[in-house]
Formats: sequence, C-alpha cells, structure tokens
Amino acid sequence: MITAAQNEVTLDPESFRSIADLAYRESGLTLVEEKTSMIQSRLRHRLRVLELEDFTAYCAVLNSDAGQSERRHLVSALTTNVSHFFREAHHFEQLAKLFSSHAAKLRSGGRMRIWSAGCSNGQEPLSAAITLAELAPDIANLDLKILATDIDQNVIRFARTARYSQRFMRGVTTEMRSQYFGALAEMNGEKQYEVTAIIRQMIQFNALNLLGQWPIRTKFDVIFCRNVVIYFDAKTQERLWPRFLEVLHPDGLLFLGHSERIAEPEKFGFECIGPTTYRPLPK
Ligand SMILES: C[S@@+](CC[C@H](N)C(=O)[O-])C[C@H]1O[C@@H](n2cnc3c(N)ncnc32)[C@H](O)[C@@H]1O
Repeated sequence: MITAAQNEVTLDPESFRSIADLAYRESGLTLVEEKTSMIQSRLRHRLRVLELEDFTAYCAVLNSDAGQSERRHLVSALTTNVSHFFREAHHFEQLAKLFSSHAAKLRSGGRMRIWSAGCSNGQEPLSAAITLAELAPDIANLDLKILATDIDQNVIRFARTARYSQRFMRGVTTEMRSQYFGALAEMNGEKQYEVTAIIRQMIQFNALNLLGQWPIRTKFDVIFCRNVVIYFDAKTQERLWPRFLEVLHPDGLLFLGHSERIAEPEKFGFECIGPTTYRPLPK
C-alpha cells in the first residue's frame, strides 16, 4: 500500500553515498550531490514497490546478496534515456557518405557493421537503419547489421517492440513515416506506429553494460556512443576509448554526443576528423 509518508521519504546523505557508490560500480554513472532531489524522486517509486519505509532499508536491499535484480531497477531509474530520431543529424550524413563509399564492396558480398552503444529506446539505431535504407532500396540483400545495446533492460524491451507513439516520433519526416512505419490503432488518443520489418530485421537489440565484458566478435565500421559517456567520469571514459579502438575497423568511425569528446585523442589511438567524430590513427 502506498502511504503519504512514503511520498515524503528523504534521501539522507549516507544513503546517497551508498547509492552513488553502487551506481558508479555497477554502471559508471557519476551521481553528484546537487542531484539529490532528482535521485530521491526517481527512487521513491522503488521504495513504494518494495514497501520500504526509508532509504536506509532500500540500501540494505541493494547491498544484499539477493539485491541483484533491484540493482538493475536502480540503474534503470537513474539512467537518462532521452533520445529522438536523427538526433545530431550530421552523424547520419557521415554514415551516408561512408555507406556510399562501401556500396560497391557491399554489393559484391562485403559487409558493414554498426554499433549503437547506449541506444536507449531505439531511435538512434533506427535512424541509422533508415538512413541506409534511403540510400539502398536493395538493403535486404546486403550484409548490413546494426547491434544496438544499452545497460537499461527496460529500454531494450521497449525498443524490441518497435512501436512508437506520436510523442517519440520527433525527427521523422512524414515521408519517412509513411515508408518505414505502419500505423497502429490509437492508444489513449495518441497515434501509434510500428517500424516495418525490413528496418527491424537490420537491428539486434541486446542489454549490455559498457563497463562489463563485451561479447563482441566483430569489427565495426561505425560506433555511435552518443550522450552516454557524459554521465561517466574521466577515468571511466578513458577506460572505454581503447576498447572502442579495438573493435573498430582501421577506417571506421566513432561518433560521440555533442558535449562529449576524447580529451587527448592521439593518446588513445584516435584522430578527430570532424565535430565529435573520431577515426583510428593510421598505423
Ligand atoms: C541519453 S541516452 C542516449 C541515447 C542515444 N545514444 C542518443 O544519443 O540519443 C543515454 C543512454 O546510455 C545508457 N547507459 C548509461 N550507462 C550505461 C552503461 N554503463 N552501459 C550501457 N549503456 C549505458 C542509458 O541507459 C541511456 O539509455
């Protein structure tokens, strides 16, 4: 039962530290004290679900041996999943250029691999798939695959449904909507759309923590990791760059978000070749 008292539970400094330490260890998220009230309001819901009286009891659950599934809920509650179709459009223009330079190779049996690392609700990998489909009506015959991953299992579940209500469709033109989405019945007065099979089939959605193991046995032509590392501290970011380098083709591209950058790209084997766009340094 939800009580008025649970709505007013405050996040005490000790619990904040414990939650911040856990979030950092589990996902690399850096929580700052200035965000206490936002964190408190995002987590009150978990207290209600678990029928806990305060954050001390919540931390005890999180830190217990049986707390694994709650730790997943914690990360899901703390991550910011804001995204939209064709966000930071210049990266999709670069993807289109790269595709055009690979098209002949692709049409004679070559392959292209793209990774959307931190894909949130799926708009980013779908934008990549639509960009490519716009260029290649024969896309279904090409060996072209997009891996889309996120730590938050809720967004992966959502993305796999491939269904978007009107409010998630920002960035999709009317023409694209009619070509790559089918209209579904309205829900609660809001229009609903489903991505067509040809686009869906290009994307594999998986839960993956960027700080954990990457069960990846391929090299990518393009990696999108945008608006993800902004939540990480410098140390965590610097652990990621060499790992991205290792799974990128020598002529591949790494795209970061508009307020992210590799501070000293050469130190990590990259060169910056455009706004938030990196390529492995020639060997
Ligand atoms: C703001 S969204 C960015 C979505 C998309 N890349 C874009 O730019 O629109 C950030 C995403 O990063 C994910 N994320 C945060 N920490 C992560 C981690 N350690 N491993 C994988 N994904 C993570 C979050 O769950 C969230 O969905």
